[in-house]
Amino acid sequence: MRLERCGVNEVPALAAFLSVADLTTSGLDGAGVRLWLESDEHGAVIGSTGYELSGDGRHALIRSVAVGSAQRSRGRGSALARFALERAAAEGATTAWLFSRRSGPFWQSLEFAPADRYELARVLAETHQVRLFRQTGQLDGETAWSRPLEASR
Ligand SMILES: CC(C)(COP(=O)(O)OP(=O)(O)OC[C@H]1O[C@@H](n2cnc3c(N)ncnc32)[C@H](O)[C@@H]1OP(=O)(O)O)[C@@H](O)C(=O)NCCC(=O)NCCS
Repeated sequence: MRLERCGVNEVPALAAFLSVADLTTSGLDGAGVRLWLESDEHGAVIGSTGYELSGDGRHALIRSVAVGSAQRSRGRGSALARFALERAAAEGATTAWLFSRRSGPFWQSLEFAPADRYELARVLAETHQVRLFRQTGQLDGETAWSRPLEASR
């Protein structure tokens, strides 16, 4: 897996990729958002992953984990998710959280358990995704997941 950090120049391509995967495109260029892209040999985006940290750095909101539809079911999504979890832990986060209504079994295979969406919104209140979901009312219909992170991961 060859990942490149997503800079401002790559944001439009990432936004287009995430739209197709039906994921949130808000805040991709935000200062505290860490994103990475995987591209094929022609430069087309085939995978993405990332997270946003809480103000105190203890909580990570995993976001933008997606794999192109032609590339799924080969372990790529798990590898992309693990990469974000490892990076967030290396930055000092002790708990990972995420919103996912459709891919619960995928996240459960990565040791995530159902969590309280309002608790997520409280500890990650400053993140783009939480602010957006509050503004739009989407928070009330979201499904939250969390898992502890180990410093040595
Ligand atoms: C979720 C996603 C990243 C998984 O990518 P992937 O490369 O297929 O992941 P892996 O090969 O590592 O694991 C696949 C396994 O996860 C599980 N899984 C993945 N998506 C699932 C879903 N929507 N519902 C149920 N199980 C799912 C299945 O067990 C699947 O195994 P299978 O293909 O043999 O059925 C990919 O389906 C995707 O991009 N979905 C759209 C975006 C999204 O929902 N992202 C998560 C929210 S941030």
